[in-house]
Amino acid sequence: MVLRKKVLYSKEVIDQRVKDLADVISRDLEGKEVVLVGVLNGAFIFMADLARYLKVPHSVDFTRLASYGSGLVSSGSITVTKDIETDIEGKEVVVVEDIIDTGITMAFLRERLEKRRPASIRICTLIDKKQRREASIDADYVGFDLDEGFIVGYGLDFDERFRCLPDVYVIEE
Ligand code: IMP
Ligand code: MG
Repeated sequence: MVLRKKVLYSKEVIDQRVKDLADVISRDLEGKEVVLVGVLNGAFIFMADLARYLKVPHSVDFTRLASYGSGLVSSGSITVTKDIETDIEGKEVVVVEDIIDTGITMAFLRERLEKRRPASIRICTLIDKKQRREASIDADYVGFDLDEGFIVGYGLDFDERFRCLPDVYVIEE
């Protein structure tokens, strides 16, 4: 299938934004014990860049969630296919996600992590698509606000394609 797509955020724009986010997070969490929790697969590239720009010491861990539905939209039913291995009790957790859409995935993850009594949970998403929000989720750190459209690149996929493109593209219908 050939998909038409156009650049929405260039790699230069993304890089600057990620640097800025890292600066803010570094300021907010100075002197704290920080754990970055990346949500696989989408967050792997964003998290790699963010982690390298952070000025505070931190550890990294990953989780992976599966939601059953049409593929483009989350359904209500989520399972954990890979859990984090770090003990987060008393630590400052920053969840790193590629995109928050309905918020169902993030609401599920936050609730799950809260049970492990971290000192705090902050949410950092590269892209915040608020229009279709169903769960009450507010990200603490947002790279870009997006009104509509399906996007790929810089970790984001369409059916596992396009994750490794350096820019972010919007799929044209
Ligand atoms: P939700 O917030 O639970 O609806 O789901 C968020 C997840 O859906 C993200 O982590 C992505 O995997 C996927 N997703 C939502 N919108 C997009 C998009 O525009 N491009 C690629 N993946 C998307
Ligand atoms: Mg994802």
